[in-house]
Amino acid sequence: MGVGITILVGTMTGTAEMVAQEVQTALEAAGHQATIRVMDGLDASVFQGGGNFLICTSTYGQGDVPDNAQSLFNSLEGEKPDLSGVTYGVIALGDRTYKDTFCHGGLRFDKLLTELGARRAGEMLTHDASSGTLPEEIAAQWIVPWAEQHLTSSSTEIA
Ligand SMILES: Cc1cc2nc3c(=O)[nH]c(=O)nc-3n(C[C@H](O)[C@H](O)[C@H](O)COP(=O)(O)O)c2cc1C
Repeated sequence: MGVGITILVGTMTGTAEMVAQEVQTALEAAGHQATIRVMDGLDASVFQGGGNFLICTSTYGQGDVPDNAQSLFNSLEGEKPDLSGVTYGVIALGDRTYKDTFCHGGLRFDKLLTELGARRAGEMLTHDASSGTLPEEIAAQWIVPWAEQHLTSSSTEIA
C-alpha cells in the first residue's frame, strides 16, 4: 500500500522544482503518490486536513526562504494554525559558501512547522550546491527509503 505526499516547492531559479519532479518520479515508481505544489500564492490553508508533506526549498538573501515561499511562511507565522495532524520532511537546498546561513530556508520551515505542532519524520536532507553533486540525484535516492521508513498511510493513502 502506498503513501500519499504533497511536495511544497520553494524556489528562485528552479532547482528545487527539478528536485521535486525527480522525487515525485521516484515515489511513483515505488507505488506511492506525490503531488507537487509550488508555493507561489499558497497560505496556511494548504495544511488543512493534515497528512504527509515534503518541504523542498532553497535559501536566499540572509538565510531567507525564497520569494515564492514568503506568502506561505508569513501566513503560518501570522495565523499560527494547529498543525498536529501534519507529518513532514524537508529537503533543504543551499550552498556552504554561505556558511552562517547554510540551508536556513529549510531550517526556518522546520522550526516553524515544529512550533505549530507538526511532526518531522526523520532527519532533513540538506544539499550543498558547492559539493559537486546533483541535488536531484541525491534526493531521488533518499526519498523512497525515507518515505517507507517514516510515513504511514494517511487519509491521502492509495490502495
Ligand atoms: C543570491 C543568492 C543567495 C543565496 N543565499 C544562500 C544562503 O544564505 N544560504 C544557503 O545555504 N544558500 C544560499 N544560496 C544558494 C541557493 O540556495 C542554492 O544555489 C539552491 O540550490 C538554489 O535553488 P533554487 O534554484 O531552487 O532557488 C544563495 C544563492 C543565491 C544566488
